[in-house]
Amino acid sequence: MTGPTTASQNSLTEHLAVQGGKILNGTLKVSGAKNSALVLMTASLLTRDVVELCNVPELTDIAGMVDILRCLGVGVERSNNRIRLQADGLSNAEPPYELVNSLRASFFSIGPLLGRLGQAKVPLPGGCRIGARPVVEHIRGLKALGAQVTVEHGTVNAAVPGKSSRLKGASIILDCPSVGATETVLMAAVLAEGTTTIENAAQEPEVQDLAQLLNAMGAEITGAGGPVITIQGVERLHGVNNYPVIPDRIEAGTFLIAAAITGSPMRIEPVIPEHLNAVLQKLRDCGCRLDIDDAGVSITPGPLQAVDITTQPFPGFPTDLQAPFMALMSVAQGTSVITEKIYENRLQHVAELQRMGASIRVEGSTAVVEGVPQLSGAPVTGSDLRASAAMVLAGLAAKGVTRVSGLPHLDRGYDNIEKKLSSVGALIERQEVEIKEEKSRTEIT
Ligand code: EPZ
Repeated sequence: MTGPTTASQNSLTEHLAVQGGKILNGTLKVSGAKNSALVLMTASLLTRDVVELCNVPELTDIAGMVDILRCLGVGVERSNNRIRLQADGLSNAEPPYELVNSLRASFFSIGPLLGRLGQAKVPLPGGCRIGARPVVEHIRGLKALGAQVTVEHGTVNAAVPGKSSRLKGASIILDCPSVGATETVLMAAVLAEGTTTIENAAQEPEVQDLAQLLNAMGAEITGAGGPVITIQGVERLHGVNNYPVIPDRIEAGTFLIAAAITGSPMRIEPVIPEHLNAVLQKLRDCGCRLDIDDAGVSITPGPLQAVDITTQPFPGFPTDLQAPFMALMSVAQGTSVITEKIYENRLQHVAELQRMGASIRVEGSTAVVEGVPQLSGAPVTGSDLRASAAMVLAGLAAKGVTRVSGLPHLDRGYDNIEKKLSSVGALIERQEVEIKEEKSRTEIT
């Protein structure tokens, strides 16, 4: 018997090489919102007519949703930032597990499938690194609308009992203001018989955008964006042309933090200020001057002072900007207490920031950040979409080069981030990297 031998097998991966210390200048353009575009695409299931969306971002998550909708029989044509969807011949009410598991937002299709066909079979979306992400509230809401819902072999089977395939309007109080649950129930209720109210509804701008699209398709929804939404069920919905997806408030916030962390006076547009008030306030509190007009925001950073943040449902500080803001606080003067109250495991970027010299102590769901004068560039990995963005921001301000891996996460939610940042002077480059994987093999002779 010989000992283990090794055979090196090379594989390629990518990272972003970020040279820190550059002052940026100019205007950063914000794309359409990922978390709106994804759910607006599923709303196309509610009508046989064409639904056309514009200002759709170029993201891998959008491509994933196109695949899932095509599996259901939806005709999808994409050109640049425009998508035309037509669900005139739905051939299947069961999106495949592999696709749903990789794209959580596709689970929301259970609402429109049930509303349109009277039945749906959708795999349970897995949890992810940031938390278990249950869909209890989505299922509670569908049951309240009269659906029979069972979960077998990892698939949620929902059906309207009896001969009618129409759900019945109901009063629903969500246990938590879940964005996905609010959107799922909203889309199931628009074709139900009678009136539905959703109390303790999520108030995020993406929920409002969905309600606006549905009303443009003939739905009768009032109250979206507030805690109580009322839906008057209608018989059918019609198509819509040229519906613009709202700007991505999380990308806008990420770019504002890029300006703040590099001390660069910049302009970020388009921005709908009321979609970002909590973040704009914190940027002012930590020393940035903001000039806001209805097209966008001009930011003039000052010396960074530490501020505390606690993530909350909208209109509170968004959890999706917690990691980017922590990168900023890592180099602010003083101590910042950052508390994550939405997800149970969304502090994994702390270890990566520590590799760059950040001084952070974690106590439960709270991180205590002692600002340091400067971070130092290092190889780091983004553990989720927003953590990856945080590492890029840290790299922009660090001394030396930071190599950010975990780009598949980043590309899910940021449309050509390195191209956009390079356009305002950042030294950032996507590089292919060869990884020698030493594979040990024991030969038996
Ligand atoms: C949406 O996820 C966004 N994703 C998330 O963005 C965002 O972080 C989240 O809303 C909160 O704003 C999309 O819109 C595609 P939730 P969603 O249901 O709908 C708990 C990003 O980075 N909860 O509001 O899945 C849940 O565990 C992503 O772009 C229950 O307890 O979020 C979580 O802790 C990440 N029971 C909290 O609520 C339920 O039945 C928020 O979840 C449902 C949710």
